[in-house]
Amino acid sequence: MKIAVISDTRDHRDNILRAVSIMNERKVDALIHCGDYVSPFVTKWFDKLNDTIKKNFHGVFGNNDGEITFLREVLGQICNFTKNGLEHVLEIGGKKIFVAHFPRPETIEALAVSSNFDIILSGHTHKIVNEKKENGVLVINPGEACGYLTNKATFAIIDTDRMISEIIEL
Ligand code: NI
Repeated sequence: MKIAVISDTRDHRDNILRAVSIMNERKVDALIHCGDYVSPFVTKWFDKLNDTIKKNFHGVFGNNDGEITFLREVLGQICNFTKNGLEHVLEIGGKKIFVAHFPRPETIEALAVSSNFDIILSGHTHKIVNEKKENGVLVINPGEACGYLTNKATFAIIDTDRMISEIIEL
């Protein structure tokens, strides 16, 4: 299965639309957003995802997601959030996945070595991490989809069969 992972989209309309069209083209099976959407109107652009991806769209909130109530309400029509919306644990393609916007590096490391999850996802730092630990656990930060801090707009596509992740530039 192919899982697209995106983070820190921060209202960047063009990059979101570009990412959405690549996800549709590449026929990914699911999408996980690692937080920092910012405004509820992002729903308008993510709504262009195909139906399969929309049915399998999961997300967590980030520290810049201020209007969580409305964001949850509108984006929640296409994206699944857990009760607190800050962490997500899910299983896709037989792989157990942990998602949070800004876990501490120590937390990521502890989760990775525990082998309790196959894939650990985070965002927030705007820095790409594409790492496979010795125990086979993937630790991924897809970088920033907005490109504001690094001038490099990226997201990731994970292949759960091969357990590799590809970073895609927007
Ligand atoms: Ni953040």
